[in-house]
Amino acid sequence: MQIDERVSALLAKMTLTDKVGQMCQLTGGSDEHKDLARRGLLGSVLNLTGPETPNAARVSNELQAVAVKESPAGIPLILGRDVIHGFRTVMPIPLAQAASFDMPLVEEAAAVAAREASASGVHWTFAPMVDIARDPRWGRIAEGGGEDPLLTSRLGSAMVRGFQGSDPSQPDRIAACAKHYVGYGAAEGGRDYNTTWIPEALLRDVYLPSFKACVDAGALTLMSAFNDLNGIPTSGNPLTLRQILKTEWGFGGFVVSDWNSVEEMIPHGLCADKREAARAAAGAGVDMEMVSTCFAESLQSLVEDGVIPMEIIDEAVSRILDVKFRLGLFDNPYTEETRTTVLLDDAHLDVARRLAAESCVLLKNDGALPLSSDIRSLAVVGPLADAPSDQLGCWSPDGLPEDTVTPLRALREALGERCDVRCAPGLQHCRSSDTAGFSDACRVAAECDAVVLFLGEDALLSGEAHCRAFLDLPGAQEQLVSAIADVGKPVIAVIMAGRPLALTNVVERVDALLVAWHPGTMGGPALADLLLGAVSPSGKLPVSFPRTIGQVPVYYAHKNTGRPAPPGKRALPVGTPLDPESFFSAYMDMHHTPLFPFGYGLSYAAFSYSDLRLSRAVLPLGKTLTASVTLTNTGSVDAEEVVQMYIRDLVASVTRPVKELKDFARVRLAAGESREVSFPLHTDQLAFHDAAMQPVVEPGLFHLMIGGNSEDLLKAEFSVTA
Ligand code: NOJ
Repeated sequence: MQIDERVSALLAKMTLTDKVGQMCQLTGGSDEHKDLARRGLLGSVLNLTGPETPNAARVSNELQAVAVKESPAGIPLILGRDVIHGFRTVMPIPLAQAASFDMPLVEEAAAVAAREASASGVHWTFAPMVDIARDPRWGRIAEGGGEDPLLTSRLGSAMVRGFQGSDPSQPDRIAACAKHYVGYGAAEGGRDYNTTWIPEALLRDVYLPSFKACVDAGALTLMSAFNDLNGIPTSGNPLTLRQILKTEWGFGGFVVSDWNSVEEMIPHGLCADKREAARAAAGAGVDMEMVSTCFAESLQSLVEDGVIPMEIIDEAVSRILDVKFRLGLFDNPYTEETRTTVLLDDAHLDVARRLAAESCVLLKNDGALPLSSDIRSLAVVGPLADAPSDQLGCWSPDGLPEDTVTPLRALREALGERCDVRCAPGLQHCRSSDTAGFSDACRVAAECDAVVLFLGEDALLSGEAHCRAFLDLPGAQEQLVSAIADVGKPVIAVIMAGRPLALTNVVERVDALLVAWHPGTMGGPALADLLLGAVSPSGKLPVSFPRTIGQVPVYYAHKNTGRPAPPGKRALPVGTPLDPESFFSAYMDMHHTPLFPFGYGLSYAAFSYSDLRLSRAVLPLGKTLTASVTLTNTGSVDAEEVVQMYIRDLVASVTRPVKELKDFARVRLAAGESREVSFPLHTDQLAFHDAAMQPVVEPGLFHLMIGGNSEDLLKAEFSVTA
């Protein structure tokens, strides 16, 4: 029998109580939950087990047996967990993974996470997070792909493929969940859970495409979000859920609400009570409620009272059953209990190490990196040199500090006898302002040939509800940079953080600056590979780095405005007469451009771009052109470069951004090698939503730009014709 036939046959046998039960998810798996599962009142449990559970697979099998063998309809549970960036082997945070621009490797990392999580009885991850984030104050910027819709779409779909594989019923695969649908990252003030106002065209052009990409990649589930979107909370929003997701896109999986987000429609002010919240959520298209109990308490009576038609329930339950069938849960509901040997497999650690290395972004290098093989002593300073929990980053509930290799340990192992690695943290913690350790750190720095400063944010400063009002290095870290720089030795700063930081005061004082994000279990060896030159940095920024918090939001795909500012800071001496000719969209006291633009990142090699050519200058609608460029590694080491292609639609019925990323390629070139790099561009890739919310490609002039970041680009022109 086909899956849809099996779903219909099962649905026909279920009571309304059984059906509502499938639409309920609780956290924990307590005895009370076991009893609910036995009575068929629970469709899913999340967080059943954690790293502290001695035999997670057995625990999940025991609960599963209750549902399968004892509940009235015998329907297996789907067990969920936040497997956000790895499981026991913790990968770099998703924002870092985006910086790799290496989607095959991102896919491999998600497959590793699926293999480890599934061995522990997990069927379903609440990932990928594909919320566009243009405000680094928002703590959850760490969990997604950054500011750009194309990059986030590629990241999300690679993760979906990695988690689910081509057949999600395979024992080493799990269901993906694209979240948080939708607009959640646009929270006002960068404060989590806050209100979002997103005009529909912006929603469709910027915030929705990454979800559509996950749907197209086969994501089995989606999560509705917490935020109020244009006045309607996203867990009760019929436009985004029922119309766009389910009708326009034909999404066939199911929608789970975020944690309590159904009940939170009461404090939002959309619903008076839990019954109204159940009606709003189910009516809008939420199929399963996470944690709060509005569905459990009210759906049955809402149907019996004729408020909600039975078709809504049947549709929701069919979607849930369909996913359970696709995951193979009916055919084999249990997890093989011996598979946990895959945790921390060498091959998994190798993926984590490579991805961490590719995620790091070199922002400055005056020649201090890679460290010379002649150095005989190295000072390792800063609160994050040896902080195993912090380098795992937010949302790594199944990672353990004891499995984590810190940079201090990795550098000691890599350098062995040939170099004396001396550690003096200077600050005990990222947020500490106790400078008592500075003198020791400065003394050690003075006695060594070079200094590596490991700075940034502890893991707790990013992630859900962990937002910041400042983007500077916390605590006394900037003072530490100054104190160490004053010693006069070559200083390399390595920044571990869950967001872009305002590094204006740091970049001036150091010889090299490397952003490592929160690099995960193998962050130490990856950083040692980079610092010692075994691997050349190749990551690129997935998000602009502001000079100061006051520039936020600052992102590359902005509109031009009627008064675009010329480059450079405005210096207006006191007494300068007002001159209407100099009224630009800029700041008086700071450059308006970011400190480092989207797509930026250096290498130990140097890459030059030349000879940008287009296969045609006139592009009829429905046709493709090919853009090519010659890329040359002019450096003396083999290295990888991320080549980026942007377009600009110069005149349109709705104004368009000054640049939009349309494609990218990671290219490896030997020292001295040149290669032609080509991208096809179809006119469909030029579409945007017009005033009538229709996707359109309008004839006219376009710029096409290729280069190694969003600022330094070669430019050509073409025209689209009808
Ligand atoms: C709330 C978070 O917003 C969401 O991302 C997560 O998946 C759920 N909690 C489950 O832990």
